[in-house]
Amino acid sequence: MTFNIAVIPGDGIGPEVTKQALLVLEKIGKVYGHSFNFIEALAGGCAYDLKGTPLPQETIDICKNSDSVILGAVGGPKWDNLPGNLRPEKGLLQIRKELGLYANIRPAVLFSPLKEACPLKPQLIEGGFDICVVRELTGGMYFGEKGRKESDMGEAAYDTELYSVKEVERIAKKAFEIARKRGSKVTNIDKMNVLESSRLWREVVNKTHEEYPDVTLNHLLVDNAAMQLIRDPKQFDVVVTTNMFGDILSDEASMLTGSIGMLPSASLGEGKFGLYEPIHGSAPDIAGQDKANPLATILSVAMMLRYSFDLEKEASSIEAAVQKVLTDGYRTGDIYNKGTKLVGTAEMGRLVVKN
Ligand code: NAI
Ligand code: MG
Repeated sequence: MTFNIAVIPGDGIGPEVTKQALLVLEKIGKVYGHSFNFIEALAGGCAYDLKGTPLPQETIDICKNSDSVILGAVGGPKWDNLPGNLRPEKGLLQIRKELGLYANIRPAVLFSPLKEACPLKPQLIEGGFDICVVRELTGGMYFGEKGRKESDMGEAAYDTELYSVKEVERIAKKAFEIARKRGSKVTNIDKMNVLESSRLWREVVNKTHEEYPDVTLNHLLVDNAAMQLIRDPKQFDVVVTTNMFGDILSDEASMLTGSIGMLPSASLGEGKFGLYEPIHGSAPDIAGQDKANPLATILSVAMMLRYSFDLEKEASSIEAAVQKVLTDGYRTGDIYNKGTKLVGTAEMGRLVVKN
């Protein structure tokens, strides 16, 4: 099969880690007989420098005409003093919106060779864990009506948590679909004991579940869920939740894996199209030094193969190669500890390709 992929390397370490991910895809193409066409596009600070905007129309068009997008990272101190609408990060928010990407998928996987990087007690993580947070990305309190007004207590401000049945339905569907490709369990997280929006949320999740009888569903209140993530992370498979709860819980879950350099993500909308990126930023402190960990971006292309192209075998083979390289003791600086072998960005990529 042939796939057209928009490639947005971005700023800082973005181009370095993206390059390694593309080499991995090329190898997958050779081994499994697919062809990947890469179409490069500009976004972020580099786009501002060359085109005067962090997200040129040409980039949006390239993305819309592709089967999926891989993005490195954007931003850096060079552009920190630009006004909000010209900042590199704005390009990123805008691109997700332009492409209708309402589901943010963040797996938090503890690779067994990296056990020491997890802040939890060894007995809690025996055998590792593999959590996939499915966060609603374009609704809820971050997008609801907000403002300031006078109240009985003087000046006040408010934000509104608003969810429509349609919004909940589509994110719940995504979670159930993803669960089918994994352990087949979904935990819904809300605050239905207090919030009306959460009561609607839970009703719709339950109703949507009727179409997925093969997937197990349970519910947790968000405060309990925050505690359970630390107490017993292994109980979770797929987690579905609102924009705000997902923002907080996905950061909590990601820290359990130790390094930001290991964590991929996907933003999905209707259909198979998706935007894939590491969760880390442009790491200006190590940019251009061959120090960045490319595994988060490499694991992001594995997600692309799984979610956008239905190439499960190919995706798993990338994950297995990453596991093998770590088991063999190779580490970039962010995950290095005594007794392991320190390698640079390019060498880490080469080892994954080889495996
Ligand atoms: P950051 O994620 O870029 O870096 C935080 C720390 O983690 C740094 O010490 C960095 O060296 C390290 N680090 C990050 N990725 C790494 C990797 N792959 N390998 C090894 N070490 C890694 O976050 P920071 O410093 O807050 O932001 C830097 C710039 O990136 C800012 O301009 C920020 O706005 C932008 N940013 C962009 C994001 C994106 O494009 N999705 C997300 C987060 C931040
Ligand atoms: Mg956040």
